[in-house]
Amino acid sequence: MVTEPENKELKSIIIDKIRKKGRITFAEYMDMALYHPVHGYYNSSGEKIGKDGDYYTSPHVHPVFGQLIARLLYQMWNIMGEISDFTIVEAGAGKGFLCCDILDYARRQLPDFYESLTYNIIEISSHFSATQKELMKSHSDKNKVIWYSPDDFGKRDFCFNGCYLSNELLDSFPFNMVKMEEGRLKEVYVTLNKSGFMEELGELSTPALEQYFTNLDITLEEGQKAEVNLGIFDWLKEIHSAMGKGFVITIDYGYTADELFAPYRTDGTISCYYRHTVNHNPYIRPGFQDITAHVDFTTLIETGEKMNLKKTLYLEQYRFLIALGLLDTIDDLEKNKHNLSILEYYKEKLAMKNFLMPGGMGVLFKVLIQQKGVEDKIKLKL
Ligand SMILES: C[S@@+](CC[C@H](N)C(=O)[O-])C[C@H]1O[C@@H](n2cnc3c(N)ncnc32)[C@H](O)[C@@H]1O
Repeated sequence: MVTEPENKELKSIIIDKIRKKGRITFAEYMDMALYHPVHGYYNSSGEKIGKDGDYYTSPHVHPVFGQLIARLLYQMWNIMGEISDFTIVEAGAGKGFLCCDILDYARRQLPDFYESLTYNIIEISSHFSATQKELMKSHSDKNKVIWYSPDDFGKRDFCFNGCYLSNELLDSFPFNMVKMEEGRLKEVYVTLNKSGFMEELGELSTPALEQYFTNLDITLEEGQKAEVNLGIFDWLKEIHSAMGKGFVITIDYGYTADELFAPYRTDGTISCYYRHTVNHNPYIRPGFQDITAHVDFTTLIETGEKMNLKKTLYLEQYRFLIALGLLDTIDDLEKNKHNLSILEYYKEKLAMKNFLMPGGMGVLFKVLIQQKGVEDKIKLKL
């Protein structure tokens, strides 16, 4: 029998909590597994992202991802009248690659824009904040980059104009789990049996779960399970109240609600990542594996519209990157290949092509752009 690595301290903290309460919601379980201040996955020191970690994200595939987004941010700055205090807020910056690629590109290619911008990072993990600060040393003059914890950012009472950006943030928000049983929506709770954690169905912990599906006019099939990310409502409210004028770019894997909650998706989309393998069991390796679920873009779009965050664009990531010039960048690489060793050339080209692979991250990932208080639309060559 293979024994899975597990964080014994974290496991006993979760078990204690379940003993005290009887059972906990899946969101409470996930919050401890990922964000316990000492033992949670995101607060522990092991590698998470990249070759020696558990998964790759787009900024780790190739810097062109951040460079193309830098061009879009530049266009947003133009639309907003080239204001001298353009603020980029990136939430959940991981190892900081996206921020670094955007700032490096802006400093090199768009110096006026670079002068006018400030980059704010909201990061829940003290471990990642430390890594980001190290990486961003060359941009540390004039307070170019400022860090906040999510709590500090929420408490801050100033208003920013610019762009709020996130890549793979929302899929890691703790979510509740529900299941349709005998025609009624039930909640999946986490409790204990002799060998460890087990699931148990019970009444909904909050009417917001039922309301979520009513708003979407979706009824799950008998026996169908689904994840519900209630955190996105407060998240959107916070962005809306902190932003004077500007744009919100949300990049993540997900679908519109009709696809996400389609009857054939009987077990939802929960996925756990460990050493570049995927499994669907969040109860193994607590504290050592990432837990995620796909994002419901319909709820993000509709909730945004109600608060005047207007949808500008929703599309697959590969189309977004092509519209920003990915193919031209690959062409430029072809033209300049004599400056690179044959190995470097293929390494670069293959890395960039990852964004275009049929069925790969370019299709799975979606990009949503919303805007507030800005009339002009961004122009992409779609
Ligand atoms: C899947 S990683 C993505 C990292 C990075 N954006 C990338 O693309 O490589 C999720 C990131 O979000 C952070 N995070 C999770 N919840 C957060 C929250 N509520 N506020 C700020 N950061 C959060 C994690 O610590 C981590 O840095």
